Amino acid sequence: MSHTLSRRHFLTGSSVLFASAAMSPALFHPAWAAGAPTRLPIPALADGRGGDSVNLQIRAGEWAFRPGVMTPTLGFSQNYLGPTIRARRDTALTLHYTNTLDEAVAVHGHGLHVPGDVDGGPQLAMAPGEIWQPTLEIVQPAATCWYHSHTHGATGSQVYRGLAGMIIIDDDESDALGLPSRYGVDDLPVIIQDRTFDADGQFVYSLNDAGDDGWLGETVIINGAVAPTAIVPAGKVRLRLLNGANARFYILTFADNRTFHKVATDGGLMERPVPMTTMEMAPGERCEIIVDLSDGASAGLLTLFEDEWDEEGEGILSGLMNLFGGGDKPLPQPTLTLVPDPELPANTAALPETLATITRPAESEIVRTRDFILDMDHDGGMHTGHDGHAIQKADMTINGAVMDMGVINERVERGQWERWRLLSNQGVHPFHVHGCSFLIDKIEGEAAPDDQRGWKDTAVLDDDGWTEFVVRFDHTASEAHPYMYHCHILEHEDRGMMGQFTVT
Ligand code: C2O
Ligand code: CU
Ligand code: CU
Repeated sequence: MSHTLSRRHFLTGSSVLFASAAMSPALFHPAWAAGAPTRLPIPALADGRGGDSVNLQIRAGEWAFRPGVMTPTLGFSQNYLGPTIRARRDTALTLHYTNTLDEAVAVHGHGLHVPGDVDGGPQLAMAPGEIWQPTLEIVQPAATCWYHSHTHGATGSQVYRGLAGMIIIDDDESDALGLPSRYGVDDLPVIIQDRTFDADGQFVYSLNDAGDDGWLGETVIINGAVAPTAIVPAGKVRLRLLNGANARFYILTFADNRTFHKVATDGGLMERPVPMTTMEMAPGERCEIIVDLSDGASAGLLTLFEDEWDEEGEGILSGLMNLFGGGDKPLPQPTLTLVPDPELPANTAALPETLATITRPAESEIVRTRDFILDMDHDGGMHTGHDGHAIQKADMTINGAVMDMGVINERVERGQWERWRLLSNQGVHPFHVHGCSFLIDKIEGEAAPDDQRGWKDTAVLDDDGWTEFVVRFDHTASEAHPYMYHCHILEHEDRGMMGQFTVT
């Protein structure tokens, strides 16, 4: 079949309501194939802006990723994932966690600029039955952040089972821009993950069986649903994308190759919207994009597995040329389909040309440089999980050391700009730092592209050249409650690719 034919076939399908029902039956359990198309689940909003504490019960549950098949899961006050926590700049956010599981759980606020004693690193794990009630002073600009398990040696397993949720921070400046902001209507949380299910629809996961690339799930799920559909207004729609996968790097693009505008990186709004047609997202990263559906056509979001589309190591672009430029690889189905409904009130305002002001430090303000070398091939031994169980593999290092909760690896001074430089001896790694946002200068030896020049807390590095960013920490983290830096491939993190630092 020629590429043109298969493409037209696909586009016809995607203009039909509920195109996701046409997903290949081979991927389905028999019970799923019979099911109705799934609507995009929208996590409940937990409003922390008025000072009431947000109750988050860490609990076991059961969730149908596809209609009719229940999978044992974990969640925060719900069966899978957690509510979207809404916070506001210059307002205190109080969280009230109760751990009802029979395993220890630490919960970290990823992307939050808060001191180490409320950051939720592994030192702050709740034993079974324990309560933790941190109050977070939100002092950072509007951003899409998230919360997730950060339990020593068990982060991958607990996130996989469901311990993750979104945090949305608002502020006056972002409110004034007129971007789509009706939660669940034209402002959608989109948590992208992948899972492997067995023949009975149960999760398959093993840290020790994970390959060097981490645990790669076979099936993409969006907010806990397989190939869901969202009915949205026929205007501008904001997607708050979170790569919440354990290990997958995704390439995001739309089935009709439409242009969208990226407006925010991990730590908030960029200076101006950046038009794009494809975008890479590494584990841990967030970005906000605006998709214009005013033409009335459905938009199918493709979440391609980077390892499969980076053909023969020739780069993502050769894979995408195959997709859009006449290659013969079959087109994948969308993992999320946006279907405009002209009856719904739509945001049709033009995008502002300027979104935010980002001030980079002058070279003279940067007082020191730290280098971090990530290595996957260390001759490691066992290390011990939070509850004393042995973790088989502790063989991935940063600067030659595996994570040790008794060791402070770096000591940083508060309020001073530093340059952090990252290089890998092997593999590609998304490096994440707690307690800050940073500004990337270089990625893998090249100047950071426009769409990476906003506030970030996760940066991709490899063995081709240094990734470099400038960072300043404005809060403190003590030896008892240090911050972490680590690879956000959760199996790398759990295998030791993490370090601790203080800020004083
Ligand atoms: Cu999202 Cu230390 O992690
Ligand atoms: Cu974090
Ligand atoms: Cu890694």
